[in-house]
Formats: sequence, structure tokens, C-alpha cells
Amino acid sequence: MPSLQEQLSKKEELLDIRGLKMVFHTYAGEVKALDGVDMNVRKGEVFGLVGESGCGKSVMALCISRLLPENAKILSGQIILKGDDLLKKSNEEMREVRMKRIAMVFQDPMTFLNPVLTVAEQVSEVYLLDPKRLSKEIAEKRIHELNEKLARMSEEEADYSRTKQDISKFQELLQSHGTLGRRELRKAAWERTVDVLRIVRLADPERIAKQYPHELSGGMRQRAMIAMALARNPDIFIADEITTALDVTVQAQILALLKDLRKEIQASILIITHDLGIVAEMCDRVAVMYAGNIVEVADVKEIFRNPLHPYTQGLLRAIPRIDKELETLDSIPGSVPDLIFPPTGCRFHPRCPYAFDACKQYKPPLIEAAPGHFVECFLYGGLPRE
Ligand SMILES: Nc1ncnc2c1ncn2[C@@H]1O[C@H](COP(=O)(O)OP(=O)(O)OP(=O)(O)O)[C@@H](O)[C@H]1O
Ligand SMILES: [Mg+2]
Repeated sequence: MPSLQEQLSKKEELLDIRGLKMVFHTYAGEVKALDGVDMNVRKGEVFGLVGESGCGKSVMALCISRLLPENAKILSGQIILKGDDLLKKSNEEMREVRMKRIAMVFQDPMTFLNPVLTVAEQVSEVYLLDPKRLSKEIAEKRIHELNEKLARMSEEEADYSRTKQDISKFQELLQSHGTLGRRELRKAAWERTVDVLRIVRLADPERIAKQYPHELSGGMRQRAMIAMALARNPDIFIADEITTALDVTVQAQILALLKDLRKEIQASILIITHDLGIVAEMCDRVAVMYAGNIVEVADVKEIFRNPLHPYTQGLLRAIPRIDKELETLDSIPGSVPDLIFPPTGCRFHPRCPYAFDACKQYKPPLIEAAPGHFVECFLYGGLPRE
């Protein structure tokens, strides 16, 4: 039974997105990609964002990291990371946020890894960007190692007092929040790089560190990219369809790795996928997205047991027929609407078997139908909103 403190901190919000509306300007017209999205990710949880192709999952990730293309415009809303509204930050400040607090990993690691640098060069660069943190990590690691060594020694051994001195040297470094010298930093960065490659279960990390991305297999590249993300020690780790392009065995291995990492890192993980199987296996909570709206949010177990939104119900009925792609949903007639001319009211109403007049005119509010279970649908009450 977790303590009250643990239960409270578990519920602590890390990322809070409120009323996020954004559009893309295109020659064909304005694509209304996000239509007032509310979503929050708690500290330390694995949160899933699921929905059909084109519903706005990747756009959400791009908004959070503020990596939107030129033709995108955020019309309103807030994206609050640990109390900071990211939409108010300058580009310079956002670069720092992306470097230290939000780590994105994508489907194709080659768009992310630099082909002309070795794995070690790229990962150690991340460590070298923050010499203070690197020094702290190394000092903590040394103190731990030296204390273990000391425990195995007797006081008569020649090395004993030397070891004690070394411990206090690193303790001083920690207390003064100091930084190692330049050469020591380089060595430390290499050491931490090998450590993190080991954490992502790359066999023979010393050898792999010296290789270039093209020398690695797809699964290994994926691991190298995850390593780079971990090296940042981020608050949140966003994984957008990272296993979609991999074959089934490698996909299973990467998912197993992510699951293991949960125990080792403190970051929250946002998993974007159209695979409900991945959600069931990996996530604590899930948000279901449809045409630029989040239509339902709940604990994973709850959503599978008691789906409320007609769209979620359709998605779940479609499961046995899903191989990998969720391109079409036979169990829900119709298709995802054109977001240049989205349906009025609830964007799902043209496909919804239960739609009534209000659904065509008004957008339903997100209401808490059961504790922690939110749904955006008039079937569960709520007053119309514009
Ligand atoms: N650069 C862009 N310019 C114009 N429209 C865009 C742009 N990027 C995305 N969109 C539109 O925004 C909507 C949401 O796209 P998004 O890529 O977020 O979907 P997704 O849920 O990630 O889909 P998938 O599962 O296929 O990755 C789509 O209608 C898409 O066409
Ligand atoms: Mg996408």
C-alpha cells in the first residue's frame, strides 16, 4: 500500500494543457487541427494518446515541444509544464526546455540522429551541454563506487586512506556544486554515454558508441535515440509511434525496454500510438482523440472495461480487426472528417449512432462522468458550449 505522500505525489500534475486551439494555414484553407484540447499528464505516469490517423496526435506533440511548422498558428490555450506556460516562452527559452526538460523520440531515428557523428559523439554532446549536472552525476557515482571499495578493504591496506581522501574530494565537489575540469568532463561524458547505452540494453556499448548511425540496425538506432533522450534527464519523454516502423519482434523488445525504463527513470512518458494493444500493455491512463478533440480520458483499465464515448466504443469493437494500422474503422461508418470543413457541434456527430439535435449544433463539454473518467459527449449530460 503506497503511503499517502506517494499517492499525493503520484497525482501531481506535470503537464497541463488547457483549451488548446491551433490551425494550419494552407492553400486549400485553414486546417482546424486542434479544437480546444484539455489534457494533463501526471508526474511519473505513462500516458497514452490514441486515435485514428490524422486526428491530431503528432500535432499535440509538436505543440508541446513548440516544433510547429511556419504555417501553424496557436489561437488560444495554455501548455503548462511544472507551472511554466510554454506558450509564453521565447524561442531561445524553448530551445533550453527541449534540451533539458522535454525529450521527443520519433518513428524514424534517422531524422533525429546525425549521420556524420558517432553515437558517442552525439550522446556525450548532450552530457557536455550541462557540465554541472554531469559533474554531479559523476561525483555521486564515484562516491558510491569508492564507498563500496572501502567496505571491502581493511584499514591496513595502503590504498585505504587514499580512497577516503578521494571520497571527500568528490563530496566537496558535490557540496560546492562545482564542475570538473575540461579533460575530466570529456572522460565523464564518455563514461556516462556508455552507461546510458547500457541502460537501453545495447550489447557491447563501448563498441556501439564508436559506430555511426548507418552501421546500426533499426532497433539499435531506436535504442540509441532513446539513450540520447535519457541523457537529457527530461521531465517528460514523448514517444510518437516509435515502434510502428519496426518489425514485430523488435517492436516487442523496444516496448519491453520502455517498460523497464519506467522503473529506472523518474520522467513521465507520453506514448502516442494508434495501437490500443500498446496502450493496454504500457499505459496508466489514456486519452482518446478524434478530429482535433480529446473525447475521453480515463485509467486504462477503466476505459477498456467501461468505454463511454461512442467513438471509443467503436475503436474497441474494432480491436480484433486491427493489425497495425488504424486507417479505417469498419465498426464506425464514415471516415475522419476534413479538418478544413469540420462538422459543426460535436465533430463526431455525422458518424455517431446516438447523435441528436444538440450534437449537431453545440460542442459538448468534457465532463467527469465517473471519478477520474472524463468524456466529451452529451449522452452523459453537460450543457452546450460554443
Ligand atoms: N504542416 C501541416 N500543414 C497542414 N496541415 C497539417 C500539417 N501537419 C499536420 N496537418 C494536419 O493536421 C491534422 C492532424 O495531423 P497529425 O499529423 O497530428 O495526425 P496524427 O494523429 O499524428 O496521425 P498519424 O496517426 O497518421 O500519425 C491532419 O488533418 C493533418 O493533415
Ligand atoms: Mg502522427
